[in-house]
Amino acid sequence: MSGYTVAVVGATGAVGREALEILAARRFPVARLRALASPRSAGLRIGELTVAPVAADAFDDVDIAIFDTPDDVAEAWVPVAAERGALVIDNSAAFRMAPDVPLVIPEVNPAALRRAPRRIIANPNCTTATIAVPLAPLHRAAGLRRLIACSYQSVSGAGQAGVSQLWSEVRDAAASAAPPAAPGGAAFRHAIAMNVIPAVGSFRGAHTSEEVKLGAELRKMLDAPDVAVGVTCVRVPTLRAHGVAVHAEFSRPIAPEEARAILASAPGVEVMDDPAAGRYPTALAASGRDPCVVGRIRTDGAGALAFFAAADNLRKGAALNAVQIAEAVVRDGFLSEIRAG
Ligand SMILES: NC(=O)c1ccc[n+]([C@@H]2O[C@H](COP(=O)([O-])OP(=O)(O)OC[C@H]3O[C@@H](n4cnc5c(N)ncnc54)[C@H](OP(=O)(O)O)[C@@H]3O)[C@@H](O)[C@H]2O)c1
Repeated sequence: MSGYTVAVVGATGAVGREALEILAARRFPVARLRALASPRSAGLRIGELTVAPVAADAFDDVDIAIFDTPDDVAEAWVPVAAERGALVIDNSAAFRMAPDVPLVIPEVNPAALRRAPRRIIANPNCTTATIAVPLAPLHRAAGLRRLIACSYQSVSGAGQAGVSQLWSEVRDAAASAAPPAAPGGAAFRHAIAMNVIPAVGSFRGAHTSEEVKLGAELRKMLDAPDVAVGVTCVRVPTLRAHGVAVHAEFSRPIAPEEARAILASAPGVEVMDDPAAGRYPTALAASGRDPCVVGRIRTDGAGALAFFAAADNLRKGAALNAVQIAEAVVRDGFLSEIRAG
């Protein structure tokens, strides 16, 4: 069989399982597929695959390794995979801000794929991806200067543990007809069922790690180092798809009609914007789907362009984007160049 040897590291997790499904659904040319995870999962079956523990020789002959593991695991194993000759596409935050690691969304900055001297390409954070896809064409048209954003992030953004905690609390709440008295898991510090939590990630002074990532990653991908970004990230009790309310100022004003026209022809964006008919992006409208869905496009009371964007955090926010990167490097002939070093 012709095709590539692909390893998915973190194959048992929320993103890893999605990556396996997307590789199959998009018919990525896979000759051999390796599902890797921690030693805890060794021997577990995922469809026809048997999970193996991550190990150096598991990367022998691997063309592309998609990493869907926590940051510390990526820090330890991504260099090993790259050293053994694989192109690594990493979903963790471990390498995103390294100057010699491209941080890429194919619809936003595909040219950055040309230069991956460490054989590592990073995927952005899922909240960043949700707004970078629609902001990129608006930025190209009018120059983004300042951004205020508030996120509404699903529990799967915290992995399988987040999903399990919400279901456990929902069952208890339904049985007792009362909000949960205590967290039903360790993914979130507070109960998440029937709650919203204005803290995603860990605190870095007054801001959270998620809030810091959003500004830094957006500036890197848009190549817009001077854009001022103010963010509040909030966890909400949805299963998947992150929503973000965006208020953006540009070097010249963009009227809602112009923004709608730009977004309607932007790759990866679906405009869903007929509020009177109840058509605007919701988490469920974006769940299990590929596009970043954008609506509520308007000029806000302060003169900024406002919109609401929603995208599936496990797909465009992670696994889909990784597979699209793999497709792009294969299609554009960069894979052999990058692997040759
Ligand atoms: N969830 C999202 O929406 C999202 C979006 C963008 C980026 N990301 C990033 O993607 C990565 C994966 O997130 P997730 O949500 O899929 O997390 P998850 O559901 O908790 O899955 C974590 C995966 O990592 C594996 N793993 C943990 N420790 C390991 C070790 N010592 N050695 C090898 N494998 C190990 C786990 O294997 P076991 O099952 O064997 O423990 C599991 O397969 C994280 O860096 C996350 O920040 C997530």
